[in-house]
Amino acid sequence: MSDLHELEQRATVELQACGDEPSLRTWHTKYFGDAGEVKTALNGIGKVPKEQRAAYGKEANRIKEVLNAAFDAALAAEKDRAIERSLTADAVDVTLPGRTVPRGRLHVATQTLREIYAIFADMGFQVYRTREVESDENNFELLNMPPHHPARDMWDTFHTTTPGVLLRTHTSPGQIHVMRQSAPNPVRVILPGMCYRYEQITTRSEIMFHQVEGLAVGEGITMADLKGTIQAFARRLFGQERQIRIRSSYFPFTEPSIEVDVDWPMTDPDAVRLTKGTGWLEIMGAGMVHPTVLRNGGYDPEKFSGFAFGMGPQRIAMLRYGIDDIREFWKNDLRFLQQF
Ligand code: DAH
Repeated sequence: MSDLHELEQRATVELQACGDEPSLRTWHTKYFGDAGEVKTALNGIGKVPKEQRAAYGKEANRIKEVLNAAFDAALAAEKDRAIERSLTADAVDVTLPGRTVPRGRLHVATQTLREIYAIFADMGFQVYRTREVESDENNFELLNMPPHHPARDMWDTFHTTTPGVLLRTHTSPGQIHVMRQSAPNPVRVILPGMCYRYEQITTRSEIMFHQVEGLAVGEGITMADLKGTIQAFARRLFGQERQIRIRSSYFPFTEPSIEVDVDWPMTDPDAVRLTKGTGWLEIMGAGMVHPTVLRNGGYDPEKFSGFAFGMGPQRIAMLRYGIDDIREFWKNDLRFLQQF
């Protein structure tokens, strides 16, 4: 009997000392396994003198029940504690801000181009793409600049090693492509794309840059149509109150030729910088398509007329956002690009 009580006490103390599930399992094997102490005690019942046997058996069974129940309780409690521990250890702080996934975006030049496309699309202009590698013929000759024409000096040119093949210096040769494809039907297109000039790279000039050319050819097109189109464009891009100013200029492929300024209110703190103090901002060259160019495009200048213009969207973006170095556009510095 006293052996039984000693067993009960020892087992209870050991059970209480178990700090995790493995030690509980070990305890269980020690007392309840095939060769466990509780089983051994129960098996030993036959060796007990006959008159004590009943009391011994009863007590051994009681201890078995008690220890079993204590074990089940301890195991359940340990499982609860384990869940508790893992919740604290792997705690998620739901109040922390999420990690944002970095998102790409369109280049500021592309954004500006798309704004320009949208405005002209609303006015019925189609976008027409033409080649960047051009013939001297399209880039100069058919635009009314025969070889050695002094106006060629306005465009410093990258020539390729193939004679007569160059990188286009402006988008104007696209006019020839469109007209030859469309004549004698009327056309109303914009021709965006990259141009190249063999120039010193400075804060104001790059060797590659975008232009957006515009061309409208049809019957009865006048300078008033050019003015109205440019004015509508400037109001959409720069604001409703915009006025435009037209100055006479010279381009071999237009007659008359003009340059267009947009007024920039002097109340804008940037006005002096943007307009060099004049209050006017130059945005494009333009004019009425020269009869020779119309003829080169396949239109009879007696019957058809047209207007054309050419603008630099990088310049427009620089003015709008206060970008003071044109080299930023192709430098690929994310600190610059992510601002737009
Ligand atoms: N091609 C000219 C340039 O690169 C810009 C230009 C002026 C285009 C007048 C035109 C135009 O279509 O009519 O400087």
